[in-house]
Amino acid sequence: MSSPPKKAPADIWSQTDIRDYLSESALTVGAGSPTDAGAGWMLPTPHPDPIIAAGGIPDAGSLPAREIQEALERVLSRAPDVALRYGGVLGFEDLRAILAERQSAMDGLALDQDNFILHNGGSGCLDNICRAFLTHGDVVITEGPAYSGTTRAIRGHMAELIEVAVDDDGLSISGVAAAIERANSEGKRVKFVYLNPDFQNPTGTTLSEERRLALIELCANHRILIVEDSTYSELFFDAPPPSSIYAMAGGAGVLRLGTFSKIIATGLRVGWVQASKEHIDALGRVRFDMGTSPLILHTLAEFIRSGSLDPHIERMRVIYAEKCATLSESLHEGCQPYVRFTKPGGGFFFWFECIGAPSKEVAAAAAEEGLLFPPGTTFFLDKENTPDTHVRLAFSNASLRHLAEIGPRLKAAFLKVVD
Ligand SMILES: Cc1ncc(COP(=O)(O)O)c(C=O)c1O
Repeated sequence: MSSPPKKAPADIWSQTDIRDYLSESALTVGAGSPTDAGAGWMLPTPHPDPIIAAGGIPDAGSLPAREIQEALERVLSRAPDVALRYGGVLGFEDLRAILAERQSAMDGLALDQDNFILHNGGSGCLDNICRAFLTHGDVVITEGPAYSGTTRAIRGHMAELIEVAVDDDGLSISGVAAAIERANSEGKRVKFVYLNPDFQNPTGTTLSEERRLALIELCANHRILIVEDSTYSELFFDAPPPSSIYAMAGGAGVLRLGTFSKIIATGLRVGWVQASKEHIDALGRVRFDMGTSPLILHTLAEFIRSGSLDPHIERMRVIYAEKCATLSESLHEGCQPYVRFTKPGGGFFFWFECIGAPSKEVAAAAAEEGLLFPPGTTFFLDKENTPDTHVRLAFSNASLRHLAEIGPRLKAAFLKVVD
């Protein structure tokens, strides 16, 4: 018979340091950016009517809830057993076939369902891409600034990140070439370049056609994959972005990532990777979560088949164009001479330069005025030493009334902090 423990198990565990158990990844990665959570993020503000311009979430008043409910009801009344059981590692074939048809038309390529794997949002896609392609110490080149969820995921897979600047034409390709050279000279291997070329989060910029071609050539010459994040590509205002990098490269060496989060709703948690069959096979091999919810995938297939998706996207383009124009006018009329910006041609975000004060001080003063947004440093790898010059405003879910008030509230904030 074993002797009784000297201490109660609860006492033993309460005196044990959790860090002894954590993986290297859990020890390395910090908590997510508060803005990744979307609408819930708030700095404390005394204002009775705060304007939240923080998270990239769709317009709440336009969510197609009724159409989704009807699609779900049809799925459950027709074949509940199929939608309510395991669905396989690549995800529901019909939805993959629907995506293949849509994306083939968009990219001018002949894709089929085996060029697609479905995941838990674009985030799930990226996580699995990292699992399939990265090993400890590999290098990934990203935009600087970049969507903070991406950089967290890559760091979580123990890869090293090199940030390359973004200007009005998108990611600097000479910067990518220099980063490749630097990594190679240190004996490191660059596995992929991640970029969000259309209406980028956070800057709203779009990569020029010339740079797309240059990036394809550069990466092919160095045998480096391109991960093209097309989260906002369909949400243009007047004109679509240039052809995708995937289309320009004929699919060679490119994994294109898409999501229903911004074109429908973030709560669906469904995204896809479009890639060569070889790459899709690699992604399937390292997937251990038994797939994405078949019930939601069947519902989405039904929603799209019934013709609800394209008219919804068209309506959203008009709504976001009006929101963006309202914000632009408000900043232009209400907040000069403190902001400098280029109006984006699509997406959810406005990126502006703060004139005369650092963005962290502007963000704190704006919170007192009831205007909530993250400082631009949130989107850089080195949040402490990055020049504190810019701010991202998300206009997608703020009302037109609120967007029109942003300029004057921001000006009041600047007046408190400018030298
Ligand atoms: C550029 C970009 N990629 C990916 C995502 C992740 O979206 P989800 O996982 O909801 O598809 C986001 C969300 O804000 C984003 O802005």
